[in-house]
Amino acid sequence: MALISATAPGKIILFGEHAVVYGRPAIAVPVNQVWARSVIIPQPQGTPGHIQIQAPDIGLDESLSNLPDKHPLAEAVKSVLDEFGLHRSPACLVRVASTIPIAAGLGSGAAITVAILRAFSAFLGHPLADERVNALAFEVDKIYHGTPSGIDNTVITYRKPVYFQRGVEYNQMDTLRVGAPFTVIIGDTGMPSPTATVVGDVRQAWQAEPERYEALFEQIGEVVRQARQAIETGQPADLGELLRQNQALLSRVGVSSPALDRLVAAAEQAGALGSKLSGSGRGGNMIALAPVSGEVGDIASRARQIEQALRAAGAVRTIVTRIDVEGA
Ligand code: PMV
Repeated sequence: MALISATAPGKIILFGEHAVVYGRPAIAVPVNQVWARSVIIPQPQGTPGHIQIQAPDIGLDESLSNLPDKHPLAEAVKSVLDEFGLHRSPACLVRVASTIPIAAGLGSGAAITVAILRAFSAFLGHPLADERVNALAFEVDKIYHGTPSGIDNTVITYRKPVYFQRGVEYNQMDTLRVGAPFTVIIGDTGMPSPTATVVGDVRQAWQAEPERYEALFEQIGEVVRQARQAIETGQPADLGELLRQNQALLSRVGVSSPALDRLVAAAEQAGALGSKLSGSGRGGNMIALAPVSGEVGDIASRARQIEQALRAAGAVRTIVTRIDVEGA
């Protein structure tokens, strides 16, 4: 039996985090510069049913049966077995590796899950359709995030820019048609951003002052709708002002931080058209929009200047990613 592998990209939220938990839309894009990979290595000499899970990045090398309940890697494997009504599979080794920083808002958990779901289902001879990958990854993401909106698993499963809205019955997802390419610089504060904690704090604040928070979420939703329009009609320069508005609203939600504010200011001083935190906030990542007009080489060099400014202001990692017109 040949070895089977699957890869899934990272992701970044461009607009609408937090408000998306309360039913407003959000926009996220895949980040192909980082990825998670799962490789399934058949063990024909092994005991039938034995599945060994290895994740060298986190020092894990354990039999599936020894992993605790609700271990996200084990849950990903088990959800595939359950999907096919199997109690056991041929003996194999499920190996996982990832270049996606953990707890930084880049979707590392969802990407690892999606890679395992795809590789392990292919190993069993029934590669899962995207729709099922997305649904199962959403369930596993609940272990990482408590009450995730579903945006991470969606953008990572479909590997396309998405306009996402959480639904009562089902989540609604539209892929975004990108009218003109644009370049985003991601800067990492280096401070962990535990999504579940921040989302929990925002919930408490919303419970204490529902009207104030609903109004903020509604304004964020409006920014997201305008951003969709700008992206689809090929007017990415308009995203600069919308990023600034979204950041101001997120500050009022209470999820920015001095380190994030410092990076946002540094990016704008270095020529970014706009900038904001991305993901749950408090720490983690921010994003900045590179100038959109000019030659490709010119835009790339201005993106590098913004990267350097972010590093000088304390970013521990930067990633430049281009959101392309599909098929380009
Ligand atoms: O930190 P991230 O990128 O995993 O994103 C959290 C985004 C929130 O809107 C705050 C929560 C969610 O589940 O959508």
